[in-house]
Amino acid sequence: MSRSVQNTLARLRDEIRHHNYRYHVLDDPEVPDAEYDRLMRELIALEKKHPELVTADSPSQRVGDAPISAFGTVQHQIPMLSLENVFAEDELRDFHRRVTEKLELGDAEEELAYAAEPKLDGAAVSLMYVDGILVQGATRGDGSKGEDITHNVKTIEAIPLRLRGDSFPRTLEVRGEVFMPKEGFEEYNRKAAETGEKTFVNPRNAAAGSLRQLDPRLTAARPLDIYVYTVGVVEGGVLPDTHSETLAKLRGWGLKTCPESEVVAGVEGCLDFYERIGSARESLPYEIDGVVYKVDAFRQQRELGFVSRAPRWAIAHKFPAQEEMTVLKGVDFQVGRTGALTPVARLEPVFVGGVTVSNATLHNMDELERKDVRVGDTVIVRRQGDVIPAVVGVIKSRRPKGTRRVKLPKSCPVCGSHVVREEGEAVARCTGGLICSAQRIEALKHFVSRKAMDIDGLGAKLIEQLVAIDRVRTPADLFTLRVEELVELERMGDKSAEKLVAAIDAAKQTSLPRFLFALGIREVGEATAASLAQSLGRLENLLSADEERLQAVPDVGPIVARRIVEFFAEPHNLEVIETLRNSGVSWPESEPVDVPEDGPLSGRVFVLTGTLSNMTRDEAKALVVARGGKVTGSVSRKTDYVVFGEKAGSKLTKARQLEVETLDENAFIALMETT
Ligand code: IVH
Repeated sequence: MSRSVQNTLARLRDEIRHHNYRYHVLDDPEVPDAEYDRLMRELIALEKKHPELVTADSPSQRVGDAPISAFGTVQHQIPMLSLENVFAEDELRDFHRRVTEKLELGDAEEELAYAAEPKLDGAAVSLMYVDGILVQGATRGDGSKGEDITHNVKTIEAIPLRLRGDSFPRTLEVRGEVFMPKEGFEEYNRKAAETGEKTFVNPRNAAAGSLRQLDPRLTAARPLDIYVYTVGVVEGGVLPDTHSETLAKLRGWGLKTCPESEVVAGVEGCLDFYERIGSARESLPYEIDGVVYKVDAFRQQRELGFVSRAPRWAIAHKFPAQEEMTVLKGVDFQVGRTGALTPVARLEPVFVGGVTVSNATLHNMDELERKDVRVGDTVIVRRQGDVIPAVVGVIKSRRPKGTRRVKLPKSCPVCGSHVVREEGEAVARCTGGLICSAQRIEALKHFVSRKAMDIDGLGAKLIEQLVAIDRVRTPADLFTLRVEELVELERMGDKSAEKLVAAIDAAKQTSLPRFLFALGIREVGEATAASLAQSLGRLENLLSADEERLQAVPDVGPIVARRIVEFFAEPHNLEVIETLRNSGVSWPESEPVDVPEDGPLSGRVFVLTGTLSNMTRDEAKALVVARGGKVTGSVSRKTDYVVFGEKAGSKLTKARQLEVETLDENAFIALMETT
């Protein structure tokens, strides 16, 4: 019995290791994640039944270690060196000259083989394998002594607990960089911000911080990865004659190496690599701060030797720094097109990422408060590629006396309307809506759009021109435009000016749902506008409704209700509405439809999708609402029916996935007739 259990365990472990290798090292998984998870669960279950058969190198043992109380010290048998840096081409040429002279290469210097690799921005680690089993992981520390982080490196899935095959040296120390891929970093920070936890300034700090956790479960939760780039102690076995072939061997033993690594010829090859990696930098999934060139042949490396703490056979060629420190001189607030107020840092100018930066975004009040950024602080500014420069952190140890906290302005710096910031919301907004020039263009575009007032021929370019010459400030101004003035504008002939004025005139006859939607009240989309119009019947009823009354309207929750009340509480908005009506904007008045408290469809949630042939979606919705049902926009497990017409898409698919009942138009009509 125990034999066969042992066989099963061995088979499961081999299979899991194989899939790990395919996934992490070859980047070519063979089976879906679900299959991998299934194998892992099977292994864990079997090991639970037979704890005596658990081995240290079992793939299940990644998070098995208990938290430690302090890090042990690891003495590196071979020091972990650092690299000399160069920034400019001529410095690199100097390096190449020194190398080729010492090697007495003469004319062959152009051909000298360098292994070229990205310089990964993470944390250096040493991994010790004895008989193919991972026995120790350590940080670089000061190069001669590091910290024992075995319990943490074992949680990193890309690090094999056991090497593949059997041709590896008995003792093999590999060294490499543990890093947090950009995507994982963004995701981790987003979640941390949401739950109010500490965010990381950059992926490098994230990697280093994650490795220095006492509790391996914390490390396991961080999306870490590794590329190995060299060996340390090698005993009981031989390695190839070159660095590049050694990397290939390591890869064969299941260790992950950087796919961008290459062998290049001479200094020209290095410069070409630098260019190529530099242009690919933004699109690489991990952060780098330069490239590294290493003389490829070990024989030549030995000949060159070391100077103090760095090898003479390798050099780091750095990219311009993407992060710098500078002093925060002040904070202004910029109003975006949706009214969002963005705090913008005014900085002591600093050269970063290849340009001089004197303004940087602080994103929003939440971020600013979480980072505790104060005027007078020394801050870290980051400019990465085309991304707008941002303040990513504060150096608290440099905080002088008398720094000033940043306060959110009470009124909009552009239009003077109230600024609101909901409890628990990151973003503060100007309530000026239609009258705030920062928001005007967007608001006007929305106002004239097809599903709103549907004014034909009033495109974005034209709106921008009209706002630029200050001819149109609010939507009401559109209704005063005359042919004579329109023909003065760019690309506007007599004919099109006449047509436009006619279209504006025609748009005056509208419907209440369109009008409400056109106002651009936050959170009030087409469906909500229709629902409001139907339930309240007249605009006056909407203006006087309180949050409680609004929440009785189908599709209106507490947030939407608050937005509506806020909108109508602004005198500017009321003024615009008044002027619009005075210019002749009107719609057929109707009486409110009271939603029956307990109609035949009370509590039932419908989603409508696709094009119906006998009625519009608004009409279909009215039928549902009149019977006490509710219509929402997205399909979830709470949906009772999905009604689909022609060209129904993802909502119908989702309904089928969730096994929600679906009704075609006929079935829907039948249901309405019987209820
Ligand atoms: S080789 C003797 N290769 O850079 C040479 N280092 O300044 C040992 N690094 O501590 C390092 N990418 O953390 C090497 N492809 C790469 C690297 C790399 C990043 C880091 C490593 C090291 C530091 C040296």
